[in-house]
Amino acid sequence: MGKIILTGDRPTGRLHLGHFVGSLRRRVELQNSGLFDKIFIMIADAQALTDNADNPEKIRQNIIEVALDYLACGIDPEKSTIFIQSQVAELCELAFYYMNLVTVSRLQRNPTVKTEIQMRNFETSIPVGFFTYPISQASDITAFRATTVPAGEDQQPMIEQAREIVRRFNGIYGEGTLVEPEILLPDNAACMRLPGTDGKAKMSKSLGNCIYLSDSSEEVRKRVMSMYTDPDHIRVEDPGKVEGNTVFTYLDAFCRPEHFAQYWPDYNNLDELKAHYMRGGLGDVKVKKFLYAILEELLTPIRERRKEWEKDIPAVFDILKKGSETARMVAAETLSDVRRTMRIDYFDDAELIAEQARKFQG
Ligand code: TRP
Repeated sequence: MGKIILTGDRPTGRLHLGHFVGSLRRRVELQNSGLFDKIFIMIADAQALTDNADNPEKIRQNIIEVALDYLACGIDPEKSTIFIQSQVAELCELAFYYMNLVTVSRLQRNPTVKTEIQMRNFETSIPVGFFTYPISQASDITAFRATTVPAGEDQQPMIEQAREIVRRFNGIYGEGTLVEPEILLPDNAACMRLPGTDGKAKMSKSLGNCIYLSDSSEEVRKRVMSMYTDPDHIRVEDPGKVEGNTVFTYLDAFCRPEHFAQYWPDYNNLDELKAHYMRGGLGDVKVKKFLYAILEELLTPIRERRKEWEKDIPAVFDILKKGSETARMVAAETLSDVRRTMRIDYFDDAELIAEQARKFQG
């Protein structure tokens, strides 16, 4: 069996640098590595609706934004299937059967869902669909027999849940139908959890602390120049801290040694720069300008590719439509295997009909 990727994003807004280092960059590398037989990238609109039931317009408007961000980053529709979750009805049927394999208390223990419930102030009014989205995510993954899910750390509990469902399914109905997936996490701690530009734990639209992949140079410059650093680093001579200093966390995520040769030859690498900052005598503005140069180098081609695709929006919808058709065929095949394994394939089972006929003839 070959290696298959499935991953995706909720279309609740444009994608930002957190998405990029958390998963998007990796997906493009994996896509171009040639090591995978199939790659599915899903716009998880149905999952986004689990906590946006009253705001479908937001989801509808953001489908194209996410698709444009994918294409701009280098997801190539010739190599990867980009599709919309709600257009693959088979995923719902799978989730419905998986629900029998998961307990309420198991869902209640999911740490990501727990935090999300707190963040959204759901408390006692949690929508059932939201509560069960880890199960729906297990069907997203298994429907495509994905071996590999490149995603951020917050998705770890979802993959664990999917693995448990697969094991339970195989244990009850027999091995061979479903594949146990593995998560592929970013390889560096800064990429795992890129903070917001204000130093808060996560980039989030409501906090206004994001750098979007589609932001203009000027917007990026403003965000970088106002980034949270070390509040005790007041005068240039003061020694500074790099831990918890957002500018340095971003450098950990984005800076490569070549960037020094190109933009700041006073240093050979990030360790030297950090050492100077910690000793004192290095001002924040200089470090911020360096980070800005690195981000601009990264974002300029992304921005340009996005502009190109923006000129042909109908073509982008066509990619999504074709991708959704392909995805649907693949999911339907898995579903048909699942039905057979679960012994609910009554009309395809001549044996069953003959056996029942014999039984009633006495
Ligand atoms: N939960 C993911 C997010 O919030 C989106 C998602 C839905 C997903 N189904 C998935 C990711 C399957 C990986 C695999 O971004």
